Amino acid sequence: MERTLILLKPDALERHLAGAVLHRFEKKGLRIAEMKMLRITPELAGLHYAEHRDKPFYPQLEQYITSGPIVAAVLEGPEVIAVVRRMVGPTNGIEAPAGTIRGDYSLSSQRNLVHASDSPASAEREIKIFFA
Ligand code: CMP
Repeated sequence: MERTLILLKPDALERHLAGAVLHRFEKKGLRIAEMKMLRITPELAGLHYAEHRDKPFYPQLEQYITSGPIVAAVLEGPEVIAVVRRMVGPTNGIEAPAGTIRGDYSLSSQRNLVHASDSPASAEREIKIFFA
């Protein structure tokens, strides 16, 4: 059984969509193995988004991800990393197909509701950051 990390980002909570997003993963048959609400600090943002730290959009990303509470969860299921990435959809909500979470609820490449680990190595690294 595989595990992945998801973050319900500040816009998901502000828009009262955390339950709707989680419900999709539950309806798919995935198990919520761990879950907690927290506020991401700039230090934690830098750790989690290490690969984006040098990107031009990083300052905005840090401001957004630290702007309000988030929910971190570990989801478990067969091939869950790929399954969840498909359910979440491409980064930009404008381009994400209908039926994906971002396609149905987002019109932004930043405020895109949910983060999901993109590989087994990322999942292992990110789960350790949020659930040490
Ligand atoms: P996520 O899947 O969590 O991974 C990196 C995040 O950076 C991404 O979702 C978006 O929230 C944000 N992001 C990615 N590309 C851009 C961009 N071009 N402009 C602003 N934010 C971005």
